[in-house]
Amino acid sequence: MKFEELDSKIAKAKLGGGEKRIESQHKKGKLTARERVEYLLDENSFEELGMLVTHRSTNFGLEKQKFLGDGVVTGFGTIDGRLVYVFSQDFTVMGGSLAEAHAEKICKIMDLAMKNGAPVIGLNDSGGARIQEGVVSLGGYADIFYRNVKASGVVPQLSAIMGPCAGGAVYSPALTDFIFMTEGTSYMFVTGPNVVKTVTHEEVTAEELGGASTHSTKSGVTHFSCENEIATLNALRTVFGYIPQNCEDDVPFVAYNATDENRPHLDEIIPESANQPYDIKSVINGVIDEDSFCEVHKDYAENIVVGFGRLAGKSIGIVANQPAYLAGVLDIDASNKAARFVRFCDAFNIPLLVFEDVPGFLPGTDQEWNGIISNGAKLLYAFSEATVPRITVITRKAYGGAYDVMNSKHIGADMNYAWPTAEIAVMGAKGAAEIIFKKEIKEATDPEAKWKEKEAEYAELFANPYNAAARGYVDEVIKPHQTRAKLIKAFDMLKNKVEHLPKKKHGNIPL
Ligand code: HXC
Repeated sequence: MKFEELDSKIAKAKLGGGEKRIESQHKKGKLTARERVEYLLDENSFEELGMLVTHRSTNFGLEKQKFLGDGVVTGFGTIDGRLVYVFSQDFTVMGGSLAEAHAEKICKIMDLAMKNGAPVIGLNDSGGARIQEGVVSLGGYADIFYRNVKASGVVPQLSAIMGPCAGGAVYSPALTDFIFMTEGTSYMFVTGPNVVKTVTHEEVTAEELGGASTHSTKSGVTHFSCENEIATLNALRTVFGYIPQNCEDDVPFVAYNATDENRPHLDEIIPESANQPYDIKSVINGVIDEDSFCEVHKDYAENIVVGFGRLAGKSIGIVANQPAYLAGVLDIDASNKAARFVRFCDAFNIPLLVFEDVPGFLPGTDQEWNGIISNGAKLLYAFSEATVPRITVITRKAYGGAYDVMNSKHIGADMNYAWPTAEIAVMGAKGAAEIIFKKEIKEATDPEAKWKEKEAEYAELFANPYNAAARGYVDEVIKPHQTRAKLIKAFDMLKNKVEHLPKKKHGNIPL
């Protein structure tokens, strides 16, 4: 019967590379491509497309090795009722490798996502371009890369790395907005350890070369490192909850009932001495809705903290200097990390909240030789071009160029608040006194005492927020406990903000 033939084809497609291979996937602590999709999406919401697609190549005996679906499960479904397109590569079929038909299936859902304004989630588990199919595999990847770039800034694109991914299987995720990795079972590299050994004679394990810990701490390639596959899929769902469907959609919100918005404990956070560290996350968590902080790039460039949160139920993006790590200084990695996050939020209408406590840019040959100038400029560029509502709260230090960069009024911030503990100056009082009173200090009978006296003089004049407030660079000096209430009102006031950039093809961010 015709119906029986269909049932048998569906059953075959669901088996991927066969029972034994599914078993071996489970033994490695991995789910199958279909199990991942089922877990990720709302129950019974997945609609599969292209289940019966097969490859066309006949080289290397491939005609005898046809698998329905060609090693990738594609389709659409919902997460918390919101439409999303998904592809999930099946490592049990030729290592999840990508060739012509496999690529066409992914391109099809990407095209649908663009037309219908919904995010794309890729679950990558692939050895890259299918070697047996030659140039059509490379062409297939290029077709995907092209769509990744066209979709960038139009619909959000999230990539999870669920196994050993090489070649194109890492370049496509690199073009998307966020990468999630599973610890212990996922790897990302352009070339694997064997090729590395042949070419550079380096002996390195897959984990060292491209495991989740490497990419979440050293390279910064991955934004989320998750304990296991379930945690990875949960993290995808969580992040999805903060981001809109497309660049013309409003940010998601959850119901919120206003209560007393004063947060008295915020008055106790800033230490007596300006040189003492404190954890900026206690400020973030104290200001935004309870338990709503979703940190991005947690273990990378910890001197700056970025992530999503909710304020009175609405999604916001947060960028904050971290005085508890390297005194919150701005360096190359921190600038890159924050610039990328700012641009994502701006592309998808997510308002930006900045907490500023920064002693300046990190000095030294390492930073200069590796390009702190052009890398630091990326953050300056990213904030300057952002047209979403932007608010800054200066909690303590706002020194030097970093004052300008961290969403100052001068580069287009809409509202700038400062706590009474703010110090807005060209540099710290000690260094400033040493430079401008050098002669007086040198000639004094007690140079140390003179230095201290001049330091106090400079601090009295500049280590405060009032000079900036007198010029309108700071809109209001507020007590910490008022911050949440002030921000809720200010973001509400800015909710219909419209700002157009001058007509141009595109800017030229210093990459
Ligand atoms: C065809 C592949 C394949 C590939 C793996 N397989 N990668 N088949 N094309 N690219 C097959 C294997 O032959 C094997 O088949 C099965 O998948 C499982 O692979 P294993 O090697 O047994 O698995 P594992 O030990 O876990 O190693 C996984 C791996 C490794 C690290 C991904 O397979 C690997 O290094 N593959 C090649 C990676 C690569 O160089 N890809 C091309 C990149 S070029 P059997 O039948 O034995 O089970 C590229 C260009 C794009 O992508 C453009 C970039 C800009």
